[in-house]
Amino acid sequence: MYDVMPPRSAVWQHIEDTAANVFATYGYAEARLPAVEKTELFVRGVGETTSVVEKEMYTFFDRNERSLSLRPEGTASVVRAYIETGAYATEAIAKYWYRGPMFRYERPQKGRQRQFYQIGAELLGVESPYADAEVIAMMDQLIGALELENVKLEINSIGCPKCRPSFNEKLIAYLKSVENDLCSDCTRRLERNPLRVFDCKNEGCQEILAKAPLISSGWCEECSAHFSTVKNALDSLNVSYVVNERIVRGLDYYMRTAFEFTTDQLGAQNAISAGGRYDGLVRDLGGPEVAGVGFAMGIERLVLLLEAQGKAQPPAQDIIYCAVLGEAALEKALPIIQQLRSDCVRVEWDFASKSLKAQMRRADKLGAESVIILGDDEIAKGMAQVRNMRTKTQAEVRLSDLPMHFVNIGG
Ligand code: HAM
Repeated sequence: MYDVMPPRSAVWQHIEDTAANVFATYGYAEARLPAVEKTELFVRGVGETTSVVEKEMYTFFDRNERSLSLRPEGTASVVRAYIETGAYATEAIAKYWYRGPMFRYERPQKGRQRQFYQIGAELLGVESPYADAEVIAMMDQLIGALELENVKLEINSIGCPKCRPSFNEKLIAYLKSVENDLCSDCTRRLERNPLRVFDCKNEGCQEILAKAPLISSGWCEECSAHFSTVKNALDSLNVSYVVNERIVRGLDYYMRTAFEFTTDQLGAQNAISAGGRYDGLVRDLGGPEVAGVGFAMGIERLVLLLEAQGKAQPPAQDIIYCAVLGEAALEKALPIIQQLRSDCVRVEWDFASKSLKAQMRRADKLGAESVIILGDDEIAKGMAQVRNMRTKTQAEVRLSDLPMHFVNIGG
């Protein structure tokens, strides 16, 4: 866990603001959710046999002996809130986005933290494959708005409760035939969650899995048609993708479409965003039969990628520095500064009357565009000296005209 301090925090804000703007054009409204939930929510929602629930949750008992967990992800919480507020009864289609810290007890490395931040979006109430395509396109648009390059979209369909059981049988039969060569994680997953073996990073297992039956061979007609429409819709939106049948996702609620946006610029932790369809989740968490699709992105990974691509410069901001010389000027300075700030201009000062040299040095260090020099003599005349730091020219401006003088700077 770590701190996000300036100047880096400006990159975070840039990502969050850009996401909020893009999501707003699709009609998503922000949901603010608690960081702590009942453990049971994730056991039922994310899945008891997933690594996240099995080994990565921060779980504790509160003073009332209730088992609580720091949320490892946001989808289960959004669905819980959607059910609790009864939104399904009033909104045929509900669209939420969220941001905030998530917690997983994983081995920390570049792009992987124990407290990390996600921005996510969930679309509830639509079974249509056009919803999958739109959600993916929204993420794609955000990548464009952030001017990120070198990001690849990988998609897959992991079938549905109708066709997956028979595929799982086929897969289990194959895996049993090679069981002795699988790693202990895969042997454990084999019966309980066989699809997850495709997630294994072990090279030996990877080789074995290259010959395993692929999920596409098990799709029912509906899954096949759904996936075709998703692909066609992405084509019509000019969103490029590759089909990767090894994408199975690490959370149990998924069915049909699963996708990841990846990059080769971040090392092992290459997924900057991931998601998919989860039609059974609302029902599993006690709500009605409502479809869902969504994604979440890791802000740290987006920041790393923006930095790697030299696109993490905080937006330039014009600064006015107010140099104060003398006691009378000191008394008058703050209201003048406040007035300029209320016109959205950034104004800095030293809260004291110091030597002009010291104040000019600070103005220079801050990169101020202009310096207002407020001395006792100027105050007596109702005037200020305004020095343009670029042209090195100086002019006398009436105090009451200062806001007008800088009107173009604040915009
Ligand atoms: P996830 O794949 O577990 O999916 O996480 C989504 C993204 O969060 C990852 O692609 C990655 O960028 C980031 N992330 C995950 N774990 C870490 C970590 N330890 N450190 C840094 N970044 C991390 C979900 O969480 C689903 N709830 C996504 C979703 C929403 N599916 C449907 N709706």
